Amino acid sequence: MHYIRLDSDTDFDAWRKAARGLVLADVAPADVTWTVAGDEPELFDTSGLAPGSFAETGTPFTQQAASPNRTFNVPARFVGLAKAAILHRDPQRFAYLYQLLWRLRTNPELMSIATDSDVARLQAMVKAVRRDEHKMHAFVRFREIGREPKSRYVAWFEPEHHIVELAAPFFARRFADMAWSILTPDLCAHWDGHAVAFSPGVAKSMAPSDDRLEETWLTYYASIFNPARLKTKAMQAEMPKKYWRNLPEATLIKSLIAEAERKASAMVAAEATAPKKPQRQEPAMTKAKHGADTLDALREAAQGCRACDLWKPATQTVFGEGPQHATVMLVGEQPGDKEDLAGKPFVGPAGQMLDRALLEAGVDRSKTYVTNAVKHFKFVPRGKIRLHQKPNTPEIKACRPWYERELATIKPLLVVAMGATAAHSVLGKATPVNANRGHLIDRDGGPPVLVTVHPSYLLRLPDEDAKVREYARFVDDLKLVAAHLKKAHAAA
Ligand code: URA
Repeated sequence: MHYIRLDSDTDFDAWRKAARGLVLADVAPADVTWTVAGDEPELFDTSGLAPGSFAETGTPFTQQAASPNRTFNVPARFVGLAKAAILHRDPQRFAYLYQLLWRLRTNPELMSIATDSDVARLQAMVKAVRRDEHKMHAFVRFREIGREPKSRYVAWFEPEHHIVELAAPFFARRFADMAWSILTPDLCAHWDGHAVAFSPGVAKSMAPSDDRLEETWLTYYASIFNPARLKTKAMQAEMPKKYWRNLPEATLIKSLIAEAERKASAMVAAEATAPKKPQRQEPAMTKAKHGADTLDALREAAQGCRACDLWKPATQTVFGEGPQHATVMLVGEQPGDKEDLAGKPFVGPAGQMLDRALLEAGVDRSKTYVTNAVKHFKFVPRGKIRLHQKPNTPEIKACRPWYERELATIKPLLVVAMGATAAHSVLGKATPVNANRGHLIDRDGGPPVLVTVHPSYLLRLPDEDAKVREYARFVDDLKLVAAHLKKAHAAA
């Protein structure tokens, strides 16, 4: 039996070195036991082994001695996935990876067989690690210790896997101008404005539990919670309960959900008094025009988009949402703060305004596909607040291919460009909104386009009269959508 002791849970280089030597020495997976320093079973004494070294029944053993002349190539794809999978908390992960490496020696094509159980297990481990990384990005909540300018922001997080080193650079980019620490039971990460440093894990009791900004944050959270858009199951899938204990806003969730039905009914009742267009049945799409998972595949590919620098401080790519057979595509500018955290477009105040206007115009929101011209949140950090910044032309252009691919996949009957950024992307050139709104613009080789204002513009208007007037104009523009769909339906 060969005993391998790694320095730490995330010691990929040592695993790779040892695994390579073992493969070259023809050591079968069943003859290897992997451990991490400090986690060895009691009966197994590795005290004589240097970290990262390996031994055959206790005898030090070197790679050169085992295989002076042999080499073999490992597919780069395996190395990339193995680096992520080694962060999984399953204690067997080192053995699983070695088993796959061992098989790759004689079957270099193995990585392309998605149904192979070892390959599928590797993929599932990587997926779990990535998901955990994403959850850490979204659910870390800092609390301020001390007062500006000397304050430090400290957060407590309980990762499912060994992802602290993986996730930390994101916080350094996002909160570059804050001094922060993220405490976890495994490892703590600290940022001083220059470099990330790590220290051993600590107990939860070391973490602060509230700060002077907590109340502001709770008020903000309650104000952006939209009862009409509540889908409890989807919400829990996105924000699993196990994270709630470390999220200050979780104390509000139960009561917000309990209140949601009443508030949503009140919203519907309020709508009933307004002059209403009869609800229309949108024409069913003729056939499934697309492969079943095309939008999902696009969405997944967009998660790794690096076409401009906006991905760096953003939490995630916020891709479009809606049915693949949507008849209308609504395009906004870029995700806001709330959308960036939720990973969904138009879930904040602008989304609520849009929902209301669509309803009034007689456009069924559930049959629309909602997306943005730019798919990462652009902002400047101001302490805890992230201030929205308008995307520039290179950023709009860099993101345009995603819009084009969404359009080609969905093939809607009509595109609505809301605001100047969306109009720029959809029409491929800078297009003033006021001079082009209020009618459909026919396009060669594509669906007609309606240009209108962005709902955030309505939210920003300071004067109440202007608000009412501009909102009515926005609804009038959207009524053109309903009329176009009705015509298309009649002609079908
Ligand atoms: N504004 C946008 O343009 N898009 C969103 O998703 C949210 C706000």
